[in-house]
Amino acid sequence: MHLQGNVAIVTGGSRGIGRAIAERLASDGAYVVVNYAGNRGKAEETVQAIVQAGGKAVAIQADVSGVREVERLFSETAEKLGRVDILINNAGIMETQPIGEVKEADFDKHFAINVKGTYFACQQAAKHMKPGGRIVNLSTSVVGGMFPGYSVYAATKGAVEQITRQLAKELGPKGITINAIAPGPVATELFTAGKTEEQIEALSRLNAFQRLGRPEDIAGAVAMLVHRQSQWITGQTVRANGGYV
Ligand SMILES: NC(=O)c1ccc[n+]([C@@H]2O[C@H](COP(=O)([O-])OP(=O)(O)OC[C@H]3O[C@@H](n4cnc5c(N)ncnc54)[C@H](OP(=O)(O)O)[C@@H]3O)[C@@H](O)[C@H]2O)c1
Repeated sequence: MHLQGNVAIVTGGSRGIGRAIAERLASDGAYVVVNYAGNRGKAEETVQAIVQAGGKAVAIQADVSGVREVERLFSETAEKLGRVDILINNAGIMETQPIGEVKEADFDKHFAINVKGTYFACQQAAKHMKPGGRIVNLSTSVVGGMFPGYSVYAATKGAVEQITRQLAKELGPKGITINAIAPGPVATELFTAGKTEEQIEALSRLNAFQRLGRPEDIAGAVAMLVHRQSQWITGQTVRANGGYV
C-alpha cells in the first residue's frame, strides 16, 4: 500500500491495459480516476472491481482528444480528490492500413487521441503535480518493428516517446519524472481486432516467453516506474515486451 494518499489518473482506464493499471495502482493504495471516452459500463465495472477488492476509484468521462476535456478531467479530479500525483497516459487507438488507404481523418484521429491527448494531459500534470509526481506514457514496441500498415500508429507513438524525452528536463526541476512504456502484443481488443487466430498465435511466439503479453504484465512495469524508488529514472522508454524486439 505504498501509494496510499496518492491520486492517480489513468486515461482509458476502463478496459484492456488501462484497467489492469488502474487495478494495480489501486491495490498499491492509490485513489484511482478511471477515465474513459464513451464506454461508461466498462468504466463502472472497473471501479466496482477496485472497490470490491478494497481499493478506491471513481470514473470520469473525458475524450482526451479535446484539450478542454483534458482540462476538465484534471479540474474535476482536483475538485473531487484534492490532488494529482500520478498520470498514466494510456488512452489510445490503433487502426492499421497500407499508406495508400490512409485518409486524412484517420491520420488526424490517431494524432488527436494518441499525441494531443498525451501532450495536453502532461501540460495539466505539470500544473497540478507536486514534487514526487510521476507520469507514464504508453508507447508501443511497434516503433522498433517497422511493420507494414502501422505507419500512422507508429508515428503517433514515436511522437509520444519524443514528448517523453523532451519533457523530462522541463519537468525534472519540478521533481516530476516522466517515462514511457512500450508494450509488445498484449491480449486486448486493440490488439486482437481484425486478426485471425493464426496471426495472433504467430505474433505470440515472437517474444522470449512464447506467450501473448497480459495487461497485468504492463501494469507491473508501470507500478515499477511510479514507485518512489524510481526517482532517478526519467526520459526513458522501457520496452515491456517479454523480449519481443
Ligand atoms: N494491446 C496491445 O497489444 C498494445 C501494445 C502496445 C501498446 N499498446 C498501447 O496501450 C494503450 C492501451 O491499449 P489497449 O490495448 O488496452 O486498448 P483498448 O483495449 O482498445 O482500450 C482502450 C482504452 O482507451 C480508451 N479511449 C479510447 N479513445 C479515448 C479517448 N479519445 N479519450 C479517452 N479514452 C479513450 C477506451 O475507453 P472506452 O472504453 O470509453 O472506449 C479504453 O479504455 C494504448 O495507448 C495502446 O496504443 C497496446
